[in-house]
Amino acid sequence: MLIIVTGVSGTGKTTLGTALSKRFHLPFFDADDFHPAENIAKMSQGQPLNDEDRQPWLLALAQKLEESEKTGGAVLACSALKESYRQMLQVSENLRWIHLIGERDLIWSRMLARKNHYMKAEMLDSQLSTWEDPSYGFQLSIDQSPEIMLSKALGYIQSHPLKMKMGVIGMGVMGKSLALNLAENGVPLAIYNRYVAGKEEGIAQKVLEENPDFANMLAFEEMDAFLSSLEKPRKILMMIPAGTAIDAQLDQLILTLEKGDLIIDGGNSFYKDSERRVHRLQELGIHFLPMGVSGGEQGARKGPSIMPGGNAEGYAMVTDFLSRISAKDKNGQPCVTYVGPGGSGHFIKMVHNSIEYGEMQVLAELTHLLRFGFGCAAAQVAEIYSDWNKGNLKSFLLEITADILLFKDQGGLVLDQILDQAGQKGTGGWSLTTALEFGVPYSPLAEAVNARGVSGKKTQRKEFSRTFQHEFRKIDDSIDAWLPKIKQAYALARIINHEVGFGLMKAVSDAKSWSLNFHEIARIWTNGCIIRSELMEHISEKYSDSFFEMKGIKESVISDRMPLAELVGLGLTHGFALPVMSAGMNYLLGRITAESSASVIQAQRDYFGAHTYQRKEDPSGKFFHTNWNSKEI
Ligand code: 6PG
Repeated sequence: MLIIVTGVSGTGKTTLGTALSKRFHLPFFDADDFHPAENIAKMSQGQPLNDEDRQPWLLALAQKLEESEKTGGAVLACSALKESYRQMLQVSENLRWIHLIGERDLIWSRMLARKNHYMKAEMLDSQLSTWEDPSYGFQLSIDQSPEIMLSKALGYIQSHPLKMKMGVIGMGVMGKSLALNLAENGVPLAIYNRYVAGKEEGIAQKVLEENPDFANMLAFEEMDAFLSSLEKPRKILMMIPAGTAIDAQLDQLILTLEKGDLIIDGGNSFYKDSERRVHRLQELGIHFLPMGVSGGEQGARKGPSIMPGGNAEGYAMVTDFLSRISAKDKNGQPCVTYVGPGGSGHFIKMVHNSIEYGEMQVLAELTHLLRFGFGCAAAQVAEIYSDWNKGNLKSFLLEITADILLFKDQGGLVLDQILDQAGQKGTGGWSLTTALEFGVPYSPLAEAVNARGVSGKKTQRKEFSRTFQHEFRKIDDSIDAWLPKIKQAYALARIINHEVGFGLMKAVSDAKSWSLNFHEIARIWTNGCIIRSELMEHISEKYSDSFFEMKGIKESVISDRMPLAELVGLGLTHGFALPVMSAGMNYLLGRITAESSASVIQAQRDYFGAHTYQRKEDPSGKFFHTNWNSKEI
């Protein structure tokens, strides 16, 4: 998307060009800044430039325009006095000309008012005599206010639309936020929302009306028009609900799309569906990127963590755009990386969400225990969390939970008015089934999914609490005495959640030969996403496949496991369900126990089913069977 504002010196090209660049969120270039030193010297002495002088200058400008076109576009203010000069700058079809035209006297008076400019007013006559009237573009008279000139220029470009760099389908919360983020970061955009009579009418248009500062967006609810507004190869980001809607949308898109076009699925699709779609589109020569996006509405608008996988060639087509809109890590690097082939982008987003479920549940368990066991006021719990949030335990989820504990409306604390039934959309449960499929122990994070399921049985819970006379027992010990241990327990419960999640990613990556880079995955999760935290920073630096032995983690496993065990014991005996913390404790003990109870299981299996077993002292790994009735092998 290129816009060139032309006209002799003094016509206000810079003023209009700057205003257009703001509205189109594109960089502005002043052609004067590209003159070689010799040209500037000549002009300062009042000598007009000739065609030969202008050659290197025009070539530099053409090159700048070409480069800019690749990254989204630019607005250039350039005298471009002659048709031959303009031809040199016509580097793309996707270019609009605005020619500023005015009376000599008006321009002259403006030039005299200008200070610190190397162009002498006397050169105006030379420029005017060189000027060749163009027969195309928009001739805009300068005898009107800058505001009116801007509005007329915008009107002209809207009625002669430029091709857009990218298209976004679906103007729901995430789609709209990502679209505005892209547009703000200089990616000219076509936005589309389907038309459903009475339900979804004029949705995309409404986004434009609510955001008048974005002249670099066009709105559609007609698919053909949307697709023809895009530059080729087309790059389309789908932000629509996961499931059959994605397949239906792909069915529609492939009717028009061509080889080399790119489709991105930025929703929370199940990774196996994404794998199937990668293959389907590959056969058609269409690039497909299944892409996780984390950060909720605010993240999508201001900088999410982005997890694209699938077709690497397709990723190269949008790397620059995704880098621009993503969050940045502490070194300023974009929180986006090419994750790996197939459905790996959606797979790691699924595991991200599973860790998210675990982290949320641990905070829910602790909050309940602190408030109704230790009898802390909500504000006191908020204070504890805010204090923790200043150190190693810092995380986005801890921060928002502290906020939630302080948030009141007319009815009092909002938290206490929220029905205690947790919803879910799928990703947490999919992680659990995937863990089962790949034989990966997953109990702590599985419990976070189960806890949401149990919470859903509210009516029965109320009945049962009466039937079984359940109530929370007040903890007599002082919170001050327990607080250091609670902090240690929380730290370790979080470590276990992360170990379990990274364990699943490692197992699936190995099984599928994805070669996932866990330093890099943790790095793109250090900012923008829901599970960003100090712990994630630590993992990104120190990641090791032997997670519990990682520096900083190992110390916590050693010193924090008794506090976790004690806290779980305390909570359970006082009537508090602590599914993730207790499952985490069990899981950890299971992982660090040399002599486990599994011998009993093997004996039982062999007893009733002759399933055989191996012996501890036999290095050959041979299988034995005992005739348990005769007590002989
Ligand atoms: C994120 C979130 C986001 C959303 C999920 C989980 O990373 O931005 O994970 O994707 O919260 O849809 O939602 P449920 O809790 O409803 O499963």
